[in-house]
Amino acid sequence: MSSRKGIIIAIDGPAGSGKSTTAKLLADKLDYIYIDTGAMYRTMTYFALQKNIQLEQSAELVRIVEGMDFQFIKNGEELLVNGENVSSAIRSPEVSKKVSDYSKIVEVRKLLVQKQREFGRNGMIVMEGRDITTTVFPDADLKIFLTAEIDVRAYRRMIELKEKGVEIEIDDVKLNLESRDRIDSSREASPLMITNDSIIIDTTRMSIDEQVNAIYDKAKSIIEKIEN
Ligand code: DC
Repeated sequence: MSSRKGIIIAIDGPAGSGKSTTAKLLADKLDYIYIDTGAMYRTMTYFALQKNIQLEQSAELVRIVEGMDFQFIKNGEELLVNGENVSSAIRSPEVSKKVSDYSKIVEVRKLLVQKQREFGRNGMIVMEGRDITTTVFPDADLKIFLTAEIDVRAYRRMIELKEKGVEIEIDDVKLNLESRDRIDSSREASPLMITNDSIIIDTTRMSIDEQVNAIYDKAKSIIEKIEN
């Protein structure tokens, strides 16, 4: 019998593909930790905008990120950074507009990847983002690429933002998603891509329950194998 207790589940995909909702519910169902790495890139961007740090000032950004203590609470639903609850602030349209540009900075990515690996050191984790299957956990036990048609992604994101009190037109949401997809997939440092060993799930016509269960079943069979 193996001494390992749990596995690492890595989920990547474009903006609005349902990664956060699916990963969170999956983690709850497995009693695993859920980590939303997009929230970490958003936090870095939020502080950069607040402190008026430009994209070229990478040394300054590194200094700030080095001093960040990320504490996910409510199993990943909210994020405290050095004690400050940034959960709402990091979802603002301003942050959404700039986050992909700030996420291109290699030095900052290195630091955030280190912190993300630290969260996963004991396994039993569901982590989602853009480079989890390729860079953060290339040896993850289960790799998923979640995607959906752009109109569906924009609609879902608009509803999510409305629920959080952010009023925004669907066309603006769509433009933001398209622009981020383009930057996130074409950047030099760990771009969003599908690895050969990832399972692709198109959620366009799937309910949340179906998405969660599809991954849960695969996770369960891997967990059973390593535990026996
Ligand atoms: O998951 P999200 O849409 O909240 O992510 C916001 C941005 O953060 C995304 O457009 C690109 C960046 N990001 C990244 O570069 N690498 C990750 N692992 C997660 C997010």
